[in-house]
Amino acid sequence: MAGAPLFPKVDLILQPTPLHRLDRLSEELGLDLWIKRDDLTGFAFGGNKGRKLEYLMGEALARRVTAVVTCGGAQSNFVRQLAAACSRFGIKFGAAVMPLPYEFEPILGKMSSSNGNLLLGELLGADIRMLPNGTWEELFVAAATMAEDYRNCGEVVFEIPLGGSTPQGAYAFCQAGFELQEQADPFDMVVVASSSGSTQTGLTMAFRGTSTRLLGIACDPEPDMPEEFAALAAQLDSLAGTNLRLTRDDFEFNLDYVGPGYGVPSEGGMNAIRTLAQKEGIFLDPIYSSKAFHGLLDMAKKGELPHRVCFWHTGGTPALFAME
Ligand SMILES: Cc1ncc(COP(=O)(O)O)c(C=O)c1O
Repeated sequence: MAGAPLFPKVDLILQPTPLHRLDRLSEELGLDLWIKRDDLTGFAFGGNKGRKLEYLMGEALARRVTAVVTCGGAQSNFVRQLAAACSRFGIKFGAAVMPLPYEFEPILGKMSSSNGNLLLGELLGADIRMLPNGTWEELFVAAATMAEDYRNCGEVVFEIPLGGSTPQGAYAFCQAGFELQEQADPFDMVVVASSSGSTQTGLTMAFRGTSTRLLGIACDPEPDMPEEFAALAAQLDSLAGTNLRLTRDDFEFNLDYVGPGYGVPSEGGMNAIRTLAQKEGIFLDPIYSSKAFHGLLDMAKKGELPHRVCFWHTGGTPALFAME
């Protein structure tokens, strides 16, 4: 999947993103620990979604849409970055959001419903429909209703799924994996936060057949996610004409660091934020990258990691300012 882009693409982010060693933590943990700075993608406060958006906006322009609709948690980083991308191309943008959409049991959380990513969405002029907490299914229905309302007003609407996890999103992260391969000698392992799936799916595809293991640390308590990653990989396989045929067992996925649930900071994650900030001066976010870094630190202390490790920082730091 290297070579000319397979899908229409726009330029949104600064790339390659920086890669550097974490000297103090390497010494403390007895690892050769590096960090891939997708928090510094340089678009709308950075983060992993910028890579996916280069292809999703490419598709939006190719289809000549006038409006884009998506959904997510109220502090969704994807909603923020997609809103900014739509501003850039003069496309109307709407999102249905819930403070804490849930799959299993509703849980209590403490994140602001006006600050952080929501404030940025408001500044971007996004049409955000805030719903009371409910199930993911209810959130998807609300997004579909919003898209229908837009159509009834004459808009040509592009509905983008949660987190931009489409084959294009996975393709963007497959290219990102190749970017890392060109930047440095091979790593034994790459560790990344995993949620809607296209980040982990694309990276897993990029490192397939190499000596690098890709470990996704779950941010949602959904053990069957690898099934969805495999389905996404199969869709990309057929579009790209590749034949990787990944199954759920090809995805290394660790559910031990989710904490109380999706969208809720965990104690271990908050301590991981403090560790990286105090040892290296780098900030993580409270919902995704902190949980992944908590996993990395804990597994390193238990001797469960190989020596040369790269932590893929996926951004999300505006959500820090939504913490109450
Ligand atoms: C900061 C951050 N890290 C990681 C992820 C997970 O990426 P994906 O949804 O592709 O699994 C997200 C998704 O929302 C995110 O915002």
